[in-house]
Parts: sequence; C-alpha cells; structure tokens
Amino acid sequence: HQSDTHIFIIMGASGDLAKKKIYPTLWWLFRDGLLPEDTYIVGYARSRLSVADIRRQSEPFFKATPEEKPRLEEFFARNSYVAGQYDDAASYARLNSHMNALHQGSQANRLFYLALPPTVYEAVTKNIRETCMSRAGWNRVIVEKPFGRDLQSSDQLSNHISSLFREDQIYRIDHYLGKEMVQNLMVLRFANRIFGPIWNRDNIACVILTFKEPFGTEGRGGYFDEFGIIRDVMQNHLLQMLCLVAMEKPASTDSDDVRDEKVKVLKCISEVQASNVVLGQYVGNPNGEGEATRGYLDDPTVPCGSTTATFAAVVLYVENERWDGRAGPPGRPEGTALRQPAHAPSRPGPALSPRGALHPALRQSPERAQGRGAPAVPRRGRGHLPAAVQAQRAGDPRAARRGRVHQDDDQEARHVLQPRGVRAGPDLRQQIQGARRGGRRGRRGALSATGDTPVTTPTPHPRLQNVKLPDAYERLILDVFCGSQMHFVRSDELREAWRIFTPLLHKIEREKLQPIPYVYGRCGGWGRGLGVGWGRRRAQGLPLICPPNCPCPSRGPPEADELMKRVGFQYEGTYKWVNPHKL
Ligand code: BG6
Repeated sequence: HQSDTHIFIIMGASGDLAKKKIYPTLWWLFRDGLLPEDTYIVGYARSRLSVADIRRQSEPFFKATPEEKPRLEEFFARNSYVAGQYDDAASYARLNSHMNALHQGSQANRLFYLALPPTVYEAVTKNIRETCMSRAGWNRVIVEKPFGRDLQSSDQLSNHISSLFREDQIYRIDHYLGKEMVQNLMVLRFANRIFGPIWNRDNIACVILTFKEPFGTEGRGGYFDEFGIIRDVMQNHLLQMLCLVAMEKPASTDSDDVRDEKVKVLKCISEVQASNVVLGQYVGNPNGEGEATRGYLDDPTVPCGSTTATFAAVVLYVENERWDGRAGPPGRPEGTALRQPAHAPSRPGPALSPRGALHPALRQSPERAQGRGAPAVPRRGRGHLPAAVQAQRAGDPRAARRGRVHQDDDQEARHVLQPRGVRAGPDLRQQIQGARRGGRRGRRGALSATGDTPVTTPTPHPRLQNVKLPDAYERLILDVFCGSQMHFVRSDELREAWRIFTPLLHKIEREKLQPIPYVYGRCGGWGRGLGVGWGRRRAQGLPLICPPNCPCPSRGPPEADELMKRVGFQYEGTYKWVNPHKL
C-alpha cells in the first residue's frame, strides 16, 4: 500500500542542528514545492515548547523574504510539537497517538530524523521501533554522525540499529555526499570519455584531498576537543571523497551498486601508519588581529593542555589494480594523501564574515591530482596561479567563486569541490581551465560533464545563470523521501572507514602524541601567490616568499609538506610535482 501522506519527525527539535539546518531545509523544500503534497512535520524533544517557540528559534535561519510570508504560514501550519523523554515508552506512545491523529496519520510514511547526541541514539531508536512505526506506510530513520568513536563503538551502534531496522530503512548522513561538486565527481569521471582512460596509476601519481576552514574553533572547542580533526572530517567527509575519486565505475546507478564500489576501495586501503601522519595544533598569530591572535588552547572551552589535533596530513595507499602495483622504490608506493588542515585559518580581515575567506575559492580547496605522462591539454607556458585566483585577480569574482577543474601545464588537475557561494552553477558542471602564467587571464576551455566534446564558452551558461542549486541537506532529505540511498553511508562502508583510522586514533590517545604547533592563518612564507606583488616578484625572478602579514591560508606545520614530498608531491609556492621515482 502506497500512502500519500508523509510525517517527518525531528527528534531533538529544540537543538542546534534542528534549528539551524533541519527546519530551514524543510522550509526550503516546502517553499519550492519539492515536498510531497501532504507532509506534516512533528518536532519532538524534552523541553516543553510550542510551534511558536520552534518558529522563533529557527525562522532567522530560513532567510525568508517578506513575499514568502503567506507560504511561511502554510509551512508552520503543517508543524506540530510533542514534548517527551527519550527513554520513556509512555512519551513515545503519546507521540504515536499524536501522529495517528494527523490526517491519514496512521497510514502515513514516517521519516525519523535523529538530530540528537549519540548518547541517546540507542534508547530513541529502540522506542521508535517499538512504539512509533507506521504500520501501513514505510519507515525510514536518518542518523547524523558521530557514528561511534572508533571501530568498536561504531560496530556496537550499528549492531543495535540493525537489530531494529533493515539497512534500507537506515540513512546515515554524510552531508559532503549531498554537495553539488562532490556529486559531480562521479559525473566528471564516468560520463566523460576524456577522463576514463587516464584515471589510473599510469597517469596519476598522487591525489591530494584538502579541506581548510578559515576560522578557529571560536568557542566550539569543547565539542571539537572530544573528537579532533580526524574524527570530525577525515574519517567521514574526506574518506568519502577519496572513494569517489578512486572507485571503479559502478554496474549501475543503483544505490547498492555505487556503495559496493566504494566499499571495494576502502577494503584496498590498509590501516594508516603513524609514520604517514603529521598532526598539528594551531597557536595564535602574534601579528594577527582578533580571533587570529588566539590559539586552540586559548579557547576557554578547550581543556587545558589538550593534545587534540586541529590539523592532520595523512597518506593512504589504495592497493588495487587501478592504483597500485607499479614498480616504485620500496616504501614509496603510489599514494593518495589526505591533507586536513581544518581550523587552519587564513587571517580573517575586518570585512569578512566568520566563514569568509579572503580567497573564497580556496576556502575548502581542492581535490588535486598530480599527473604524469602526456599532457591532457597542449602546453602553454610553465605553471601559473591557481585558476580561481587568477580569475579573481582579473576582476572576475564570479569566475573566482565557481568550482572548476584546473589543468595545470605540469599536468595537475585541480577540482575545487567547495567554492564559496556556489548556488547557481554552470551547466558545464566541470570545467577545465588552461591558463597562462603571469597574472594574465587564461583562455577558458570548458568540458561538458555529460558530453565529451570540448567547447570554449563563457561561463556560466546564460540559460543557467539564475538557477538555484539545492544545498547538501536539501538534496539529501529529498533523497530520503524518494528512497534513494546512493548518497548515504552503508554500514559496511562505515565499518571499513573506522577500520582504516582506528589503530591510529588509539595510538594517538594511548601515547598522547603531541601535535606540532602551527600559526593561525600564517602561510609560513611559502605563499600561494596571494601575497601582495607576488606576480611581479615572480616576473622579476625574485624569491616567492610572502610578507609577514600576507593573507595566505596556513598550510599547517612544515613537516606536513615534508610528508607530501616523500610521496611525490612538492609545494614550493607554486605547485610542481616531482617524480618520486627520481627523488
Ligand atoms: C562538519 C564538521 O561535519 O563539517 C564541522 O563537524 C565542519 O567541524 C563541517 O565545520 C564542514 O562542513 P561544510 O559544509 O561547512 O564544509
């Protein structure tokens, strides 16, 4: 029996995630007519609240315009709220009767969103299963990380949840999988005949995944300190991206076919070796201003003397036929490096929003593939500024914001996965840019993601200039309504991800490994070409060293660059790859 009515239940409706993300997302979907017609939203939490309270808390995050007011009223008319305990069967019985009393409520499909601290996951899922399931419609449960702290605790949680729900009812969110540019990776790789044949060990020596945030913990240190950077973003977001970069073409776009391929990649990655890791923790910049002067340990919510890493660079090896097996010098197999300088902020200037970086396209910067062998585009000059920076310098901020694949003359492909402010993307979802060095604007050669004919075109395509792309949560929540699990983490995937990092995490904790200090937002003189007069210096053959107050984002401790170098990637202010076999 197919029910037309849906009930979306937010467990933890009074919390931060609910107010900042879940309610706004449901509103955007509702406003744009994307939710099924007859959908109700029920909030559940311990506090005695009303819908008016929920509205007061969450509406500021909706960014609704005055014209949207009537629609907003309709949205809140579909909302209700039930207060109850998380471990008390009677509370859940009340929740269930409340849902049954909604129009067609007892037959409705039910989506439970667990916006809750993991400490109550077990009790909540058990009670949902026992008391709140729809008997006629389907039931789906959406869970947020952290999914445990290591392999063992994650397994325990998985076993508990899988004793209550089938895998096809469990939606583990990794919001990176909902991002436009992350989803495009698959299109880029598998729909383009240009990339298919060269995406392997013969042509790619090393892939770097970089994640940066241009701000410190800023009072969120208490939460962060419990997890550290590896658990916060590497074991999940970055590893997921690694899978998308490295996996084979799935047999079909069926969710399980896609996830099968991701699991296969993870199974080919051995546990991280401590010798392939550099950990860092940021300290204040004495020459900075405001937040920049405060180090991680200066955050009052961080425990005194904490050794939690805010930066990690990690090298992983994908040992399968596509990526491994080349005769390389011992100890230097083909590598995939994860570099994670989160909370390695660029110096935020006064005119910037807390999340704004001076160089937006570099905020969360790229997946970078260093190539070998024949160039994919004809050579023009010898290396140049990152394309987005160049576009920015050339006075084209829109282009600077856009995500792009960047094909370096030294055969380096660069894909900015999360440029800031991308809402309306070009229909040429991926672009390849060939550009000249020296600050001159490069010629843009764009490649269609769905075709294989290179075209040169101004971007974005005029047809799509005003298209609004959904954000990660909108996409993912809609997927749950539609029953598509492709962009959610399956239990075996999660298990493999923890297997890779758990021995390292345990070693860090057991031996209290000391992170190396690095200065907040200071590039350490390496530069990125963002410093003042850098282009001119290069033209004059002067050393490319940034001035002390340069706005380049931090690269973490220099030891991380040494580690990268060992696996064949060298950074010297301009990106050049060094053949590891000739080192
Ligand atoms: C979250 C992490 O999962 O991802 C945060 O817990 C991090 O620490 C965030 O800031 C980054 O997400 P986004 O979408 O802002 O890149």
